[in-house]
Amino acid sequence: MALRKIVNEKEELLHKPSRPIEKFDLRLRILLDDMADTMYESDGVGLAAVQVGALRRCFVVDIGDGLTEFVNPEILSREGEQDGLEGCLSSPGEFGLVVRPMKVTVKAQNRKGEWFTLTAEDFMARAICHEYDHLDGHTFKERAHHMLSKAELDALDKED
Ligand code: NI
Repeated sequence: MALRKIVNEKEELLHKPSRPIEKFDLRLRILLDDMADTMYESDGVGLAAVQVGALRRCFVVDIGDGLTEFVNPEILSREGEQDGLEGCLSSPGEFGLVVRPMKVTVKAQNRKGEWFTLTAEDFMARAICHEYDHLDGHTFKERAHHMLSKAELDALDKED
């Protein structure tokens, strides 16, 4: 298990576009393993490579039903709309409301370079869109129509 330091949104690197992955080698496998370890350690549901300092087009997602690795992903279609709360491991303590598609179909490669297509709905669709944005240097805060205030965050804490 190897944890990597999470890049904060204040760092310029997080806002840069990532490059496609061409080699499906040991280096990629170690990167993906470390990304998953780092995500789980931080109680996140998704993590993009740029968030651990690697400008490569891959991310990992686990919303509680198992890990999926996406290498060189492409969103093929977006359907519907959902509005909900989002946060990011690169923006600790901050949450905002973001409108995302209700359903997305994604094409991506796995760690061996094999292509797969996946259709995701609800929170999984949200997580995929959030991570996909990271590959182009975008953060959820750019997309949020409302960022929660301190008072709103306190009220949310009391709910659970
Ligand atoms: Ni994020």
